[in-house]
Amino acid sequence: MDPRSAAGRATHAFRTCAVALDGRFVDSPVMQIRSAEPGDSGSIREIHLNAFDENERHAVADLAAALLSEPSDPGALHLVAEDGGTIVGHVCFSPLFDRAKLECVGFLLAPLAVASSFQKRGIGSALVREGLRRLEERHVDSVLVYGDPAYYGRFDFEVETAKRFVLPFPLSQPDGWQVRLRDPGGFLDEVVRLDCVEPLRSPELW
Ligand SMILES: CC(C)(COP(=O)(O)OP(=O)(O)OC[C@H]1O[C@@H](n2cnc3c(N)ncnc32)[C@H](O)[C@@H]1OP(=O)(O)O)[C@@H](O)C(=O)NCCC(=O)NCCS
Repeated sequence: MDPRSAAGRATHAFRTCAVALDGRFVDSPVMQIRSAEPGDSGSIREIHLNAFDENERHAVADLAAALLSEPSDPGALHLVAEDGGTIVGHVCFSPLFDRAKLECVGFLLAPLAVASSFQKRGIGSALVREGLRRLEERHVDSVLVYGDPAYYGRFDFEVETAKRFVLPFPLSQPDGWQVRLRDPGGFLDEVVRLDCVEPLRSPELW
């Protein structure tokens, strides 16, 4: 996934639906965020096929669908944004494990997409914030992401601390690897060697 995807391809079409004037997404009868269900798989694939560039859309759509049926413990968190019953956005948070201790140490935010004609209305932010809120409720300490710091910085993801979380793959753009800690002051100064769920174990995704 190219962490710089999507910049500049947003559109302001359909801006009339239920979105606050300050650009922040508002839950309303026509626009809502809910947990995804197995039957949403086709719609979720379509969102990623629509939102990502040609060179990565099929790989990301396949990844999203595979993560929806991923039987990990703990399970992945999938959220969709619906506009009047139509799915227009999707985000997944899947568990990351300490390879040595074989325990879950955080979640990976990937993939995230909003249908191109619905972008720039705060839907992506609303999906991310709702996912972070739910993970905080579950006392998840770390959420990692491989994406554009210009976008994820607004959710308090940062690059420096993420260097302590080492993936089993080389990253083509190491500056895109970021972490958001629930308690930034409480993190021990140690390196954690990570493992991820099976659909993400493809070096070409990184
Ligand atoms: C990234 C994405 C999910 C954002 O969804 P969205 O609903 O448009 O997001 P929001 O409305 O909450 O935020 C829009 C803001 O983010 C900015 N933004 C979007 N993608 C960005 C990027 N890659 N880098 C920096 N800023 C970005 C927009 O320019 C906009 O800025 P503004 O508020 O100053 O106008 C959407 O653009 C998308 O689906 N892109 C294609 C897939 C993709 O790249 N996913 C992320 C992979 S890591």
